[in-house]
Amino acid sequence: MTRQEKIRRRKAARRRKIIALIMGLCIIVLLAVAVFLVIKNRSQDAEKKNVQETQSENNDNTHLEDASNDSAEDTANQAETAEPEPAMLELTETQKYTGDLLLVNDQYPYHFEENADSLQLVNIKEAQTVSYAVNKEDMQLALRIMAPLDQMIAACNSALNVTTTGISSAYRSIEYQQSVYDQYVADYGQEYADAYVATPGYSEHHTGLAMDLGIYYEDGSEGSFSESENAVWMEENAYHYGFVRRYKESKVAITGINNEAWHFRYVGIPHATYMNNNDLCLEEYLDLLKTTTTQETPLQIDCETGSYQVFYTNAVSIPQPEGTYEISGNNSDGYIITVSVG
Ligand code: DAL
Ligand code: ZN
Repeated sequence: MTRQEKIRRRKAARRRKIIALIMGLCIIVLLAVAVFLVIKNRSQDAEKKNVQETQSENNDNTHLEDASNDSAEDTANQAETAEPEPAMLELTETQKYTGDLLLVNDQYPYHFEENADSLQLVNIKEAQTVSYAVNKEDMQLALRIMAPLDQMIAACNSALNVTTTGISSAYRSIEYQQSVYDQYVADYGQEYADAYVATPGYSEHHTGLAMDLGIYYEDGSEGSFSESENAVWMEENAYHYGFVRRYKESKVAITGINNEAWHFRYVGIPHATYMNNNDLCLEEYLDLLKTTTTQETPLQIDCETGSYQVFYTNAVSIPQPEGTYEISGNNSDGYIITVSVG
C-alpha cells in the first residue's frame, strides 16, 4: 500500500468516526426530545384529570347546596303552614317610671327625668272648663287629668248644691316640696311634718296626678275640708272619675302618711273602681297585681266604662295585647298593662 493510499484510508476512517459521532449525537437529541414530549403529555393528562375531578366535586357540592336549599324551602313551607309568630310589644325602661299607676312613697322616689316629656303640666285656672277656686293662681296639674277633675268637682258641687270645692295644692317641684316640708317643721315640728309631708323627691305631688282639695267660700274665706260634706261626697264618689283618696286612717301603717281627707290621686276609672270596691290603697293594689296576675291570668275589672283585663309584667317584651290597652310603670320594677275588652 502506498503512502498516499494509507493517508487516504486514515482520512476516510476519521470521516466515518465524525459521521458516527454526529449521528450518535443526533440520536441522543432525538431521544431527549422524545422523552421530553412524553413527560409533557403525561403532565397535561394529569392536569386535565385534576380539572375534571374538581369540576365533578363542584357538581357534587352544587347538588348538596341544592339539597340544602330544598331543605330550607321545606322549612319555609312548614313555617307558612304553622301558626304565625305573635307581634311583640316592647316595653322601655322609661315606661317603668311613667304612667297613671306610679307608686311614689317613702321607698320609691319620683323620676323627674323620665316624666319630663309625658307630664304636660297646665295651669289649672287657664285649663279648667268649669269654675272652681284655686289657692294660688300659678297652680298646675297634668293635662290628662283636667277633664276628670273638672267633672268630679262639678258633680260634687251640683250634688251638694254648693260652689265651695276648690284646689288648695297641686303639682309641686322638688324645691316647692322642700319649702312645704320646711314650713311644716317650723310651724309644727319634725314629727308632725314627717307624718303629713313627704320627703322632697318622694311626694305624689311631683306626679301632677295628685291634688289637695279645699273649701273656698264666695266671700274669699276658707273652710275645713276634712269636716265638710264635700269630703264625704268625694270619699264615696271619686272613683267614678278615676280618683282615689290616697291616705286613709286604716292604711297609715302601709302608706306611712297620716289620714288626709283632702289628698286625692288620679289612677284611672278601672283601677279606682277596684281599689274602692276592695278597700285597697295603691300599695296593696299594686302588690296584688304583682303577686297574682300574668298576661295569661289577668285581673278582670268590670266598671262603668267597660270591662278590662289588668296584669303586671316585668318582661321587656310581651305578646301584643289585642285591642286597645294602656301601659303604666309601677315606678320600681315593672309595668301594669290595662287591656280594654268590651
Ligand atoms: N301630703 C303628702 C303626703 C305629700 O306631701 O306628698
Ligand atoms: Zn297632698
